[in-house]
Amino acid sequence: MVSDVIILGAGGQVGQALTTLAPAAGFAPLGFGSAEVDITSLGALKQLISDHPGTPIINAAAYTAVDKAEAEVERAFLVNATAPTWLAALAGHDRPLIHYSTDYVFSGKGETPFSTEADTAPLGVYGLSKRVGETAVLAASRGTVLRTAWVYGATGNNFLKTMVRVGRDRGALNVVDDQIGTPTHADDIARATLTLLSQQLSGQGAAAPGLYHLTAAGQTSWYGFAAEIFKALEQQTGTKVDLTPIPTSEYPTPAKRPGFSVLDCNKIDRIEGVSRPDWATPVADTVAAILKSEKA
Ligand SMILES: NC(=O)c1ccc[n+]([C@@H]2O[C@H](COP(=O)([O-])OP(=O)(O)OC[C@H]3O[C@@H](n4cnc5c(N)ncnc54)[C@H](OP(=O)(O)O)[C@@H]3O)[C@@H](O)[C@H]2O)c1
Repeated sequence: MVSDVIILGAGGQVGQALTTLAPAAGFAPLGFGSAEVDITSLGALKQLISDHPGTPIINAAAYTAVDKAEAEVERAFLVNATAPTWLAALAGHDRPLIHYSTDYVFSGKGETPFSTEADTAPLGVYGLSKRVGETAVLAASRGTVLRTAWVYGATGNNFLKTMVRVGRDRGALNVVDDQIGTPTHADDIARATLTLLSQQLSGQGAAAPGLYHLTAAGQTSWYGFAAEIFKALEQQTGTKVDLTPIPTSEYPTPAKRPGFSVLDCNKIDRIEGVSRPDWATPVADTVAAILKSEKA
């Protein structure tokens, strides 16, 4: 049976992937971009909830500009903390609510992947606002939070797309190699989310509401990610980009970022049907998709 699912933030990387992949997972997506449902409008959320009684909600809407958030504190908290708190209260007992959070809720100290039990200690406004939002969703009776990281895909704004553009423009780049995490393709996040939601609706499987970590497998630095991107770019276009590793101290940003933010995904690995390919696996295809879209 096909179930409706509400997707908020449907124009974002994960929102688009969810909307595209939902039918194959047995869902009819009701996708709402920011122009259709602004999650910072309590009235709009109340209307949505009453128009679609019982329909599960996936909230992929977020304020994701990590550096800008340091100056736009109020806006970041409104989107990432207040709106999810409203959603959690409105979702009630009769529908699952799935929400995303981030590896930036962690301090980045240590070299062992962070488990879902690990203490959070965000370094910046974005991480702090996301931490407040995830706490609210976890308090909802059917709330699930999926913490993910370093999201990329062929659409939207992301590191991979920036590297392809800037690498070709400049031919040489310096990229930080002392921040370690796991690049994760939006399609893999969407597939895992839909698998988890299916099991929550059917009551079968191990996908109880709660907190999960969901990234690709493995780990790398931004430099390692860039090297993989430029390997694919060279193979596909012949363009070579001269890449140099630098420490974070040579690339200061308004927001402090964790040095090590690899997430331990053991809990989600116990859910049958969730697969987490190595972070590098989708890189070449994603570069190819971007190059193809430029020609279209
Ligand atoms: N991107 C990452 O590297 C990363 C890393 C870790 C976790 N996450 C989390 O993963 C989730 C999905 O991220 P993503 O990469 O798909 O983000 P994204 O591409 O930046 O998309 C976010 C979407 O949210 C929408 N949005 C912003 N404010 C809104 C509002 N007030 N009402 C409705 N929609 C609004 C944006 O629409 P407009 O563009 O029209 O404003 C955009 O389409 C988020 O919870 C994010 O915090 C992302």
